[in-house]
Order: sequence, then structure tokens, then C-alpha cells
Amino acid sequence: MDELMIDLQKATAMEMANWRLHLWQMSIPEALSSQRYVQLSAFPTDMNYSRFITTVSAARKGSPIRLLTELMQRSPPSLISLAGGAPNPNVFPFKKATVAIGHGNAVEIGEDLMKRALQYSASAGIPELLSWLKNFQRNLHNPPTANYSPERGQMEVCVTTGSQEGLCKVFEMLINPGDNILLDAPTYAGTLAALRPLGCNIINVPSDQHGIIPNALKEILSAWSPEDIKSHSHSLPKFLYTIPNGCNPTGNSLTAERKKEIYQLARKYDFLIIEDDPYYFLQFEKPWAPTFLSMDLDGRVIRTDSFSKILSSGLRIGFLTGPKPLIDRVILHIQVSTMHTSTFTQIMISQLLQQWGEKGFLEHIDRVVEFYKTQRDAMLVAADKWLKGLAEWYPPAAGMFLWIKIKGVSDTEQLIMEKALQKEVLLVPGRAFNINSSEPSSYVRASFSLSSPAQMDLAFRRLADLIKEA
Ligand SMILES: Cc1ncc(COP(=O)(O)O)c(C=O)c1O
Repeated sequence: MDELMIDLQKATAMEMANWRLHLWQMSIPEALSSQRYVQLSAFPTDMNYSRFITTVSAARKGSPIRLLTELMQRSPPSLISLAGGAPNPNVFPFKKATVAIGHGNAVEIGEDLMKRALQYSASAGIPELLSWLKNFQRNLHNPPTANYSPERGQMEVCVTTGSQEGLCKVFEMLINPGDNILLDAPTYAGTLAALRPLGCNIINVPSDQHGIIPNALKEILSAWSPEDIKSHSHSLPKFLYTIPNGCNPTGNSLTAERKKEIYQLARKYDFLIIEDDPYYFLQFEKPWAPTFLSMDLDGRVIRTDSFSKILSSGLRIGFLTGPKPLIDRVILHIQVSTMHTSTFTQIMISQLLQQWGEKGFLEHIDRVVEFYKTQRDAMLVAADKWLKGLAEWYPPAAGMFLWIKIKGVSDTEQLIMEKALQKEVLLVPGRAFNINSSEPSSYVRASFSLSSPAQMDLAFRRLADLIKEA
């Protein structure tokens, strides 16, 4: 029955035809109850991915109905399918759409495309978007895993409903209560909120302006002996999570040198790296830092990318890149939760990216970077003018946040939540980004994405008054 195992993303026309033949030869109950043909890929021997995943994740099986839907959508129009449970799009009220584009031709969704856009689609993403994204990741990061066999951790991509969905599903795939995991707090509150209920033990790795300090990580890891490593002790940290560029909230960006050192530690202690990089495309200086994905010799990096900061946050779309055996587990989870990211969203984005090509997309990124760099500089001018002597900060090299340490204030919570509002200025108190959010923090996070330079100036003037009063 081995020949029935098929990877739907990669299957050639011949493989698909054989697969269909096998399926048709089974009785319907046999086909629907059989899990043999929905096995997406085996776990490789080198990395032993099965060590990382939870029992729940390991127990996930593909839905035969979903697979039939995906198969149907890839079949020639001559196929008469009575199998699908999809609604008839002719009864839907939306017929066509034209979306004007700032730089480029309008995205036209004609009647046929609209029918597809309103219909169920494959859980990993629509094929044309997936292949665009895979090529893009290959060209941009040139990951060693791109040419590996699936079992060895071949680079795989899937579309997610924002990078938050990807992160949340990756955490649920990996974390059993009591597992040790590593991250550099203060960090993104959305990550902490997703992690806390899973009952893992979060170990904080010290960081500075240039991200995680490798020697500090080494020191933490020295708690595990060579025997622990050899025996794959359950207490070894399962993964390191980090936001390598323009970290939310600190604005930290990891240097290439540090990334290399951290990757070596990951190899030595056999943990995965979750590279949450929504601000990758908001790096203010070129060349952009090499990613963990680009150095992933083993297939131990899971990368989350987001379109939220560059195309739209409300369309809810991002993508996961990582070793196929793990990405396949996430796709199985998507099958039974959202089923797939909105087909309409994917078609809009895909049409735009096909039109722009990689060159046009990167030109768009240049315009976005230019905007945020100007905003950052305006915020630095306002900070210099009003907060000198009252607070400390450093210029972020990426992202949209300035992380400000208020001098002489041990906890900014009260200052912001009670007094700042009265003065009509709002920032996020640093506590929100601590592993333990009840621990005090003398920091505040200021975002330079939405305010005008004049508003930034006024806001910091008000903040300065507040600090002086405090
Ligand atoms: C570090 C980080 N990760 C993930 C996300 C979630 O982004 P998305 O809109 O792609 O779900 C955010 C959003 O602000 C973020 O700052």
C-alpha cells in the first residue's frame, strides 16, 4: 500500500492518476475509513522529529473529505464529481470585483475567478500562491533544506491566517505541559498569551540591543550534561522562540554572527528554532540580515512570515516555512480548524504577487521601508527633544517600535494606565511583555507607525511632563 502515500503538493499528473485509480478501486467505506492514503509524510531518521511533537499532534490524521476536495480541485474539468460537499457558487451574491492598486494594475476578479474565490480550497493554500511563496523563499533565503528529501526535513511552506495562526499551531504541535522552552523576553504579548495556557516552563534568555546574547544562552544550556544530550532527555528545551528583526516590543535585531552561534547551540542541544519574523521586511538598512532559515542545515528552523505589516493586517494572511514533517502536522491542524485561509484573501494576494513578480514586490517593500524609516527618525527627533535625561532608548534598526526606559520609575503600569490617559497620551507599559506580566517594568513601548511627526512631538512632550511629575 506504500504506493498510496502521496504528497498532494508535489504529485505529478501520473501520480495523481494512479492515486485516483487506487481510490476508485476501494469501496467508499473502505476509502473513507482508510488512513493509509492520507499519510502525508514519514518522520525522518536524522532529526527525529517525533521527539518534538505532542501526542495530540502525532494523533492527527488527514480528513478524507478534505483530501477529496483538494483532489477534485486539481482534476481536469472532464471529471464528474459527486463527491464534494461544496456549495454551488452560482447561488452566491458576489459576482466580480476590481480592486485598485497603488502601484500597479487593478486586481480583476472576474466571474470564474470569483467563483473560486468564494469556494472552499486546499488547507495548505491555493496552489498558485504556494508555488509563488516557495520560489520566493528559495530565492530570498536559499535554505539548504530546499533540496532535501521530504524525510530529511525538506523546506515546506503553508499559508496561514496571519502569522499568529502559524505560531499558535506550532506551539500546540510542540508543547506538552512541563516542557522547557527558551525565549528572549520582553517579547510579543501574543506569543506569551498563546504559550502560557500550554503549561510550559519558559526560560528567559538575556538579550541586548543586538538580540539574544549567545554566551548567556550557552550558560543556561550548560545546565544540561552531555549525557542528557545523548539520551535526548525530556527536560532539554524543545525550542528557542525569537523575533530576530525589530523585535516587538524592544526593537532589537539579532546580528548574523549571533545567529550563527545560536544555530550551533541548537545543533548541540538539539532544539528547534522558531523564527517569528513579521518585521523582516521592515529592516531599515541593507543588506538585510541572513535568516535562521538560510543557515538551516538540519531542518530545525520553523519560520513565520507575515503580510500584515506590508500588504494588509486585516486580510489575515501569513505563511509558515519549515521542515516538511512538521509543516504537514500544522496543515493537519488547519484542516480541522479554519480548514484554510480565506480563498478570497489568497486570490487577491496571489493576483497581486503574480502581477508584481518578486521584483515588483521588493520595490513595494522599499517604499514601505522608506515610510517607516522616516517615521522612526521623526520619533527619534521627538525623543531627543523631550525625553533626554528622563529616559533611555536606542534607535531600532527595524520594525515599528521604540522601547523607552523611564529613569527613576520602577514600574510604568500606574504611570500609563492612570496618569497618561488624563494627559491624553497612550503607550504600552512594559509589563505586558514580561513572561510574568505582574512583574514590574520601567519600560514603555511607543509605536511610530500611525502618528504624524507633530503628534509624536506632542505625545513625548506630554510624556515628559508626566515623568517629571512622577
Ligand atoms: C512579533 C509578532 N509576531 C506575530 C504577530 C502576528 O502577526 P499577524 O498579523 O501576521 O498574525 C505580530 C503582530 O503584531 C508580532 O508583532
